[in-house]
Amino acid sequence: MRDIIFATGNMGKLREIKQIMEGLPYNIISMKEAGLETEVDETGETFEENAILKATAIAKKAREAGVYGDAIVMADDSGFEVDHLGGKPGIYSARFMGTDTPYSIKNQKILDEMEGVPEEDRTARFVAAIACVFPDGTCEVVRDTFEGRVAHEAKGIYGFGYDPIMYVPEKGCNSGELLPEEKNKISHRGKALMKARKLLEEKAL
Ligand code: IMP
Repeated sequence: MRDIIFATGNMGKLREIKQIMEGLPYNIISMKEAGLETEVDETGETFEENAILKATAIAKKAREAGVYGDAIVMADDSGFEVDHLGGKPGIYSARFMGTDTPYSIKNQKILDEMEGVPEEDRTARFVAAIACVFPDGTCEVVRDTFEGRVAHEAKGIYGFGYDPIMYVPEKGCNSGELLPEEKNKISHRGKALMKARKLLEEKAL
């Protein structure tokens, strides 16, 4: 069985990708488990560029180490885009107001900036890009979104990051109020992972 190295240190993401890739003949491991842990500067200007930067850096490290020669390397990049704020925090979602600032403060800042903005101008979305580097060196990237609006108040105990402040019209509640299994079915990452699964089925089996 071939390996897929997923460039994340986040065990939640790894669990989700394992669930979505179930049934495919791949053994999915984190970069830590592969002994390839590395910091990659996210210097790209788009989610796609950053995902590609991460995946290619880990693939290069694996090839240089002479291990996992026929593994597929995958990496994702994601964030929250608010149209009225010119797409911010966007690719800077994790770094917005500083990586150590609690999300309760980051979220309140966005709610304050959106105060008085009418419903039709509150459109926002989560975006996820996933890059796959194949053993022949080719790279493909997929992307999907989870559309909603900036809520008027933070709600919910599930999820993380900006989940409490994104209202999801199709569910009638904020993303932070969705159970993880409910969110994964409609989320940016869940849908992008499904596209990545299709890519693996087409390209690599
Ligand atoms: P990364 O892709 O792990 O670098 O995540 C970037 C940042 O985007 C996270 O730290 C969160 O701030 C935000 N983000 C990405 N996906 C989600 C989500 O599903 N819910 C809430 N925030 C998210």
